[in-house]
Amino acid sequence: MQSSKTLKIGIIGNGNVGGALAQGLASAGHAVHAVGDDMAAVQATAAWAEVVLLAVPFAAVGAVVEVAGAALAGKVVIDVTNALDAQMQLALGFSTSGAEELQRRLPAARVVKAFNTVFAPHMATGRLGDEALTAFVAGDDAEAKRTTLALARAIGFDAVDAGPLSNARLLEPLAYLNIQLGYVLGMGPQIGFKLLHGQAG
Ligand SMILES: NC(=O)c1ccc[n+]([C@@H]2O[C@H](COP(=O)([O-])OP(=O)(O)OC[C@H]3O[C@@H](n4cnc5c(N)ncnc54)[C@H](OP(=O)(O)O)[C@@H]3O)[C@@H](O)[C@H]2O)c1
Repeated sequence: MQSSKTLKIGIIGNGNVGGALAQGLASAGHAVHAVGDDMAAVQATAAWAEVVLLAVPFAAVGAVVEVAGAALAGKVVIDVTNALDAQMQLALGFSTSGAEELQRRLPAARVVKAFNTVFAPHMATGRLGDEALTAFVAGDDAEAKRTTLALARAIGFDAVDAGPLSNARLLEPLAYLNIQLGYVLGMGPQIGFKLLHGQAG
């Protein structure tokens, strides 16, 4: 899949995250369709899209998989969810991650973890003020990861290859730190992570 061509991008979940990513990806020239909690629309969007972003509450992932799973075979599935339980605590820990569990449930899909460490208001541009935020991209399928990195760059992020899908075990807690800083420790959502790139040697 060439990353520079116009892609048909389906976004499951049309809330804060889905809406912002839809805006950013449409501005980058892609054909975007975002849907909310309407299972017929979810199924149709998954079937239509070449790339699917999952932007629903973690508790809704199972329902989406059930309805859209077959249509996602072979496709790039970008998991933006955070594995949080009803008490807003991390639902998974050291031995797996939400993204790996999603890949297990969608063995024929090419799951990538990305964008989950960014607050939704910054997802349409990938920027906070003058700074490009980092989009960490983890996945096991090299082409799916290249496609996701290109999409993140097209939005405006500094996209960083964060290694295999198992590194979602690190990215999901990093998002939890973002939530702690923003909403528990009072910094608010006008914050974000930026990886600094120094000179080699
Ligand atoms: N908010 C952030 O800053 C942020 C940042 C990074 C990651 N995340 C993660 O991104 C995900 C979405 O967060 P959000 O803030 O965008 O939540 P949100 O504003 O509450 O939006 C959730 C969306 O999911 C849809 N939905 C719920 N159940 C569904 C189902 N069974 N099938 C299809 N769609 C369903 C809702 O549809 P209806 O509108 O029709 O109910 C809504 O469009 C969560 O996993 C969250 O942890 C959030």
